[in-house]
Amino acid sequence: MDKMRICGGVPLKGKILISGAKNAALPLMAASLLSDETLTLINVPRLADIATMANLLGQHGVELGLNGNDNSLPRISGQTLDLKASRISSTLAPYDLVRKMRASILVLGPLLARCREAKVSLPGGCAIGTRPVDLHIAALESMGAEIVIADGYINARAPKGLHGAEIVFPMVTVTGTENILMAAAIAKGETVIINAAREPEITDLANCLAAMGAKIEGIGTDCLRVCGVERLRSAKHIVVADRIEAGTFAIAAAITSGKLELIGTRHEHLLSLWNILESIGIKSEPTKDGVMVCRRTDDLQSVDITTEPYPGFPTDLQAQIMALMCVSSGAATISETIFENRFMHVPELLRMGADITVHNSTAVVRGVSKLKGAPVMATDLRASVSLALAGLVAEGETILNRIYHLDRGYERLEEKLRACGAKIERIRA
Ligand code: EPZ
Repeated sequence: MDKMRICGGVPLKGKILISGAKNAALPLMAASLLSDETLTLINVPRLADIATMANLLGQHGVELGLNGNDNSLPRISGQTLDLKASRISSTLAPYDLVRKMRASILVLGPLLARCREAKVSLPGGCAIGTRPVDLHIAALESMGAEIVIADGYINARAPKGLHGAEIVFPMVTVTGTENILMAAAIAKGETVIINAAREPEITDLANCLAAMGAKIEGIGTDCLRVCGVERLRSAKHIVVADRIEAGTFAIAAAITSGKLELIGTRHEHLLSLWNILESIGIKSEPTKDGVMVCRRTDDLQSVDITTEPYPGFPTDLQAQIMALMCVSSGAATISETIFENRFMHVPELLRMGADITVHNSTAVVRGVSKLKGAPVMATDLRASVSLALAGLVAEGETILNRIYHLDRGYERLEEKLRACGAKIERIRA
């Protein structure tokens, strides 16, 4: 397995082009199942999870064409993907593919809406929690689906097709909202989704569906009203920039006392992060091409943080901001309210000399004068990058093991960081 070697102590300076968002590209790819015409996605990041979704769609019969980069567009670095589901040859999403990536659940709604049946493996839990899909299932049942869970599979059928419904999510679910939004686009009648997730990735999906001919009102709000149409047509869509990648690099600038311009970042997609960074002593300002982030005080202030659904502080940046709090002056309380086990980075940060105590879903982080490099283990995508951030500021060498976790969600991480001065290299197994 590949490893990453990081030597800390270098302030990062320069520009980083932010990739297309993984958590937008995945549902956008699944949306291709809804139409028999070509969906062209531009700025798709080169990530392991994207390849997994491409494999899954391929075995459903989606024809995929990779058309290199579209360099004609500014601030675009990703690949252009053509997806055409002219006919769907299989409605089975097998365990050996779904277990690699929970987001595979995103084929359930589109397959059921288009083919009136689907057999999708239960995604199972992962490092950060059990991650059930009961809300997806209940919502689809209210749209007329008959669903039986058996042998580890979701066996779903809708002999008369899906119909509109009023769906109230008892808790905010990102992929739950996405599954229902896609199913509702071609269901018979009107669907109202109340307490819908409002993440920018959902807005991106809704905008793409609208370009395909879907009729959606309330985009960007927690109440989505969808009037089903007979069929969706071809469209071209540019994947929104990855706000979590951008937030990760903003924290990299902060933790190394550097200065980075994050090209392609939408400032308005990370307001909760900019406010927290301001309190810590980090300045962020929109530029013509993105957002500039730099440290404006010597001493970083410890700040209490609670993760919340958008527009609150993202759970996907919790591990990263914790690394920053490890070297701030004072004590910070970090409360994780979205997932039940998202502190896997704590034991590894402790190995680097951090001072953190965890009580249930709250971590108390007392800043230390310095972290020391050490061999550490990546456990999940965001915990992994949190350890890389700690390595960038630690004294000495950090070896990050099992970096396949990183490759799932960060495109060319070491190249982007090295180009800004970081001493980081991949050690191929
Ligand atoms: C999406 O996961 C993201 N993944 C996650 O990013 C992100 O952390 C999460 O949303 C929260 O923002 C993708 O978009 C591919 P949820 P998702 O449904 O949709 C509970 C990353 O690092 N829940 O919003 O699976 C659930 O257990 C990944 O890029 C139910 O109980 O998350 C959790 O506690 C990690 N029943 C809470 O809701 C359900 O049916 C929020 O989960 C669904 C969810």
